[in-house]
Amino acid sequence: MWSFTLAFMAILVGCSAMPSTPGNLTLERRTTINDGTAFVQGTIGNMTWQASGVLESGCTLSTITDCYHMYLTSDPSEQLDSKHLDSPRQRDEFHFPQVSAGTEFAYSWKQYLYSSTGTGSTWFHIMQAFGVSENNPLVTLDAVSGTLRIKDYVRGTGGPSCGSIACPTTDLANYHGTTTTHHISGKFGPSGSLSYTITNDTGSTILSYNVTGAMGAGAGYIKFGMYRITFDGMTTANAVVGDWSG
Ligand SMILES: *[C@@H]1O[C@H](CO)[C@@H](O)[C@H](O)[C@H]1NC(C)=O
Ligand SMILES: *[C@@H]1O[C@H](CO)[C@@H](O)[C@H](O)[C@H]1NC(C)=O
Ligand SMILES: *[C@@H]1O[C@H](CO)[C@@H](O)[C@H](O)[C@H]1NC(C)=O
Ligand SMILES: *[C@@H]1O[C@H](CO)[C@@H](O)[C@H](O)[C@H]1NC(C)=O
Repeated sequence: MWSFTLAFMAILVGCSAMPSTPGNLTLERRTTINDGTAFVQGTIGNMTWQASGVLESGCTLSTITDCYHMYLTSDPSEQLDSKHLDSPRQRDEFHFPQVSAGTEFAYSWKQYLYSSTGTGSTWFHIMQAFGVSENNPLVTLDAVSGTLRIKDYVRGTGGPSCGSIACPTTDLANYHGTTTTHHISGKFGPSGSLSYTITNDTGSTILSYNVTGAMGAGAGYIKFGMYRITFDGMTTANAVVGDWSG
């Protein structure tokens, strides 16, 4: 039943979510990819998406052309990732294809995080450099306690230390309500690297993090969107993502 549902969703998405004409049509046609009643995944072009919340193609934001709207409810027991019910979390994410250790990757995408999206003291990933054999993130971008921050689980423990330096942070106000462009490149594996820079819609750098050395034991992939542990009193979360390349 589950695989049938997945296959059906993949066909549905294949037909409806790829905008055939850029610009105008994309803006006007808003199509539901996931309605938030089940945890579903599928593909769009080379990208894999996973959504427990609402995911729609098409939006009215003029700064992101090929765009997808993400919405997560404020109810901590709704729109949950059904694979992690022991620690309830909500997820709307896209990920680039898996790359093997030592293979160079270079990607970009855009995200607009609505200012109404609040934070708590628990993790809320905006980006993940994910290690396949670790089955865990290696480096993330997080929105926590009103701060946008890098977390490094290789050089640190996901806390304020990124090894020899303090992890880069900035006030979340610098990220809220502006169309941000993310550039990430590097290699997974023991002789790895990561170069990650986020700019705002006037081209100023909001946050940047560059490391060389271990990036997990083997293959990995880059994910982006919104993925958070739920908690009582959290806000709804709203974002638009799109215009990826790589
Ligand atoms: C789509 O294009 C038409 C004709 O150029 C224009 O009148 C309309 O405002 C556009 N719609 C959007 C949502 O941009
Ligand atoms: C998908 O990946 C292939 C191989 O890397 C690449 O040639 C192609 O341009 C990609 N397509 C899109 C839509 O990004
Ligand atoms: C982008 O960042 C610069 C430098 O911090 C700031 O002056 C500018 O107002 C920001 N632009 C937006 C749209 O947030
Ligand atoms: C990281 O590398 C990029 C590209 O070379 C550079 O523009 C950026 O300033 C660097 N960031 C830091 C924090 O060193």
